[in-house]
Amino acid sequence: MKALVLSGGAGTRLRPITHTSAKQLVPVANKPVLFYGLESIAAAGITDVGIIVGDTAEEIRAAVGDGSRFGLTVTYIPQHAPLGLAHAVLIAREFLGEDDFVMYLGDNFVVGGITDLVDEFRAARPDAQILLTKVPDPRSFGVAELDADGRVARLEEKPAHPKSDLALVGVYLFTPAVHEAVRAITPSARGELEITHALQWLIDRRLKVSSTVISGYWKDTGNVEDMLEVNRSVLELLTPGHEGSVDDATEIIGRVRIGRGATVRGSRIVGPAIIGPRTVVENSYIGPSTSIAENCRVTDSEIEYSIVLSGSSLHGVGRIEASLIGRDVEITPAPPTPAAHRLVLGDHSKVQISA
Ligand code: G1P
Repeated sequence: MKALVLSGGAGTRLRPITHTSAKQLVPVANKPVLFYGLESIAAAGITDVGIIVGDTAEEIRAAVGDGSRFGLTVTYIPQHAPLGLAHAVLIAREFLGEDDFVMYLGDNFVVGGITDLVDEFRAARPDAQILLTKVPDPRSFGVAELDADGRVARLEEKPAHPKSDLALVGVYLFTPAVHEAVRAITPSARGELEITHALQWLIDRRLKVSSTVISGYWKDTGNVEDMLEVNRSVLELLTPGHEGSVDDATEIIGRVRIGRGATVRGSRIVGPAIIGPRTVVENSYIGPSTSIAENCRVTDSEIEYSIVLSGSSLHGVGRIEASLIGRDVEITPAPPTPAAHRLVLGDHSKVQISA
């Protein structure tokens, strides 16, 4: 069995994180979301992985390399334009050959991995198998309708009026039957070859598409609350370890991981929390559910339930909570309000001054 990992999306959504980098590299507990996917593919016993790359190919290649550190052999497959998930299967035809495969969308996060799912598929070997999860608003997902026996009856891509709350998770298992389907379908209204339509094509031809409903699913939808929450839940399972230098005036409580070359002085860190390599924390408080990436500086500040990405600094800024701070950001105190105002105002001026 092989894996096809999709990391082609441009990540142009206007949010601090994906604005400047690939959405598959958004960090969860200081690790790119794509790495969790690759690790769970390896854990399921699959080693041969094709990665579809687009505009952000260089960034993905730099992060993943040849895949050996995940125990994988990676083949990069360039997609010249984001023409859809089924298009990715089309262009990966030669790589996939006649093997069954798992298709994994690189910006999806499945808590607990995919080993059970892959085992189930290998044993029952339906023509295709999909993963579903209940979401509050399914309109930005593929949506499934199941029949009385739990078989997939109908799928719709991003319906305005969803018929169920079961969204398609970006992990799909296929036999080579999918190749005929991706060749048969035509582009959707958004100009993409939709994998949802390829699956519907299989269903219409009475091929067996089975489904598994899971919980513990996350995708970067640009929602900061969701991101802080998935970061929190992954930190709960963190393996503690201190590879940096921590002085005697520092107090560390609970699950805390301190990366190589990090320095912590005169601070209090209450886990679960992770401090990245080469980050410096001084006279500060780092509270639960916080991930501080590598090469950051936190001095005379307090931060809790937050994510700080690489190269950022916080100096003397009091308390920060429930925040997402991008790369190379500098946060410093505003200059103090002057004790007296000196004004030269024209006639009839109306001025508001914070008293
Ligand atoms: C794609 C699929 C959609 C699925 C989603 C999961 O959407 O088309 O059916 O629910 O991935 O991540 P896209 O990310 O292309 O909007």
